[in-house]
Amino acid sequence: MPSFDLPQTQQDALLQAARQARRNAYAPYSNYPVGAAVLDEQGRIHCGCNVENAAYPEGLCAEAAALAAMVLAGGRQARAVLVVGNGGDGNWITPCGGCRQKLREFGAPDLPVLSANEVALGPRYTLSQLLPESFGPGHIKAK
Ligand code: THU
Repeated sequence: MPSFDLPQTQQDALLQAARQARRNAYAPYSNYPVGAAVLDEQGRIHCGCNVENAAYPEGLCAEAAALAAMVLAGGRQARAVLVVGNGGDGNWITPCGGCRQKLREFGAPDLPVLSANEVALGPRYTLSQLLPESFGPGHIKAK
């Protein structure tokens, strides 16, 4: 799928799914609930929310949860990702560095990554914009 060529219906479905997922976020420490939705190669949508922990570094990001749901369901390619969190106007949510690498495992360089909040869609990027010159599965393919 070329960059940014995401049909409106799929974009709407991703947005609704990520907003719904965000409602179940467990974020008592940061008070920053996040929802993520991933479109897989079968056209299915998988969701995740952040799950924090009293031992702070053990918290899980919404994108990681959504990718785990995709893999569990048998999906192996992310075709689009949408993340919802508070922000806008210069501080739209974007995936953290660790999640950019996790997305790299299952996404092409032109993977669309869309940002949104509860009321609007924000900027959109490609994965390679967010994680240039990245290290990925191709670097360690079985010899
Ligand atoms: N978080 C996500 O789940 N995804 C992002 O894209 C950015 C940050 C979570 C981690 C933590 O639970 C909270 O948001 C604040 O950093």
